[in-house]
Amino acid sequence: MWIEKLSVNNFRNYNTEEINLSKGINVFYGENAQGKTNIIEAIYLCAVGKSFRAKSDRQMINIDSDTAFVEAEFKKSDREGKVKVVLDSKKSIFLNGVKIKKLSELISNLNIVIFTPDDINILKGSPDNRRRFLDMMIGQLKPNYIFVLNNYRKVLEQRNFYLRQIREEGKSEDFLDVLDEKLIDLANKVYIYRKEFVQKIEKELIFQHKEITNNRENISIKYISECGDIEKFKKVLLSRRKLDIFKGFTSKGVHRDDFSIFINDRELSVFGSQGQHRTAVLSLKLAELAVVKTEIDEYPILLLDDFMSELDKGRIHNFLEKIGDIQVIITCTDKFNIEKNDFFVYNVRDGYIYKEDS
Ligand SMILES: Nc1ncnc2c1ncn2[C@@H]1O[C@H](COP(=O)(O)OP(=O)(O)O)[C@@H](O)[C@H]1O
Ligand SMILES: [Mg+2]
Repeated sequence: MWIEKLSVNNFRNYNTEEINLSKGINVFYGENAQGKTNIIEAIYLCAVGKSFRAKSDRQMINIDSDTAFVEAEFKKSDREGKVKVVLDSKKSIFLNGVKIKKLSELISNLNIVIFTPDDINILKGSPDNRRRFLDMMIGQLKPNYIFVLNNYRKVLEQRNFYLRQIREEGKSEDFLDVLDEKLIDLANKVYIYRKEFVQKIEKELIFQHKEITNNRENISIKYISECGDIEKFKKVLLSRRKLDIFKGFTSKGVHRDDFSIFINDRELSVFGSQGQHRTAVLSLKLAELAVVKTEIDEYPILLLDDFMSELDKGRIHNFLEKIGDIQVIITCTDKFNIEKNDFFVYNVRDGYIYKEDS
């Protein structure tokens, strides 16, 4: 799939811009703080319905305005469509001109895989980075996953609230059995989705990593969860009940899931160099791309923010020449050229976008 045209209006540091995009590679280059990542953010907003970096939607509206919109016109193998996101005191999303009622209706229209410098935190940061990676990928493909996950979070909140009521108001523990039952069931459903996707990722990850490292490194991924076996998880919850009451929150569950990456059988987070982390995260992203492609039978759009800062030039050329039939949106500081059809170059300067000959 690809975006043919992106329009922004009072979005971040832009006034009105209409950008025609190539089906292939699109490079947005320019100095720092000119609006390059804002373009990536606008596309992301049309795909996911929220920003990957703004804490509130207000931040995305130009400071001199009270309203903003972004609109993406896209084409897929079987249809074309338009997503428009309007931001004012609240957010409204239109799909082919019709306002959607729930965010989940947006899912699976525009599929994207995003790669930003911060993604190194998927491997280096705390487990919530890794859970977010899984949740984003699965949620984009399986709207029901988001539904199950949200239900899990609701029950978890109820359980935590009740734990504190037991501790502070001496309420009976009986009701916990009911909540535990619900929690265990939902946790297992989340587990099954995550397990399935980690397995899908693993196959692609092994392949991609071999390619990138010229067969020098073997990669593997291990999903860590306590919720795979319903009976076992039930026992875990029971054995931790006193502790949970004392602490006032639930110490085990899919909200504590994690995964580890191993390179040549050694745990990356313990033994890996900076370079190995970078390569592994690129492999992980390419694996995500391949999994999404298999699931939707079409390539998602690849968003590469500040790509040059991640890899050297030789690798980038190699990567882009091999990448095939995918729409890629790249932001970088230095202009570059590769021998390829469908290659557009844009210069970004202070909220204006200038198309150049490529
Ligand atoms: N709501 C906003 N209104 C106006 N300008 C904004 C807003 N949010 C961010 N900016 C400006 O956008 C620029 C940063 O854009 P960004 O795309 O992150 O830059 P880069 O080109 O480095 O990727 C900065 O100049 C910042 O002041
Ligand atoms: Mg940037």
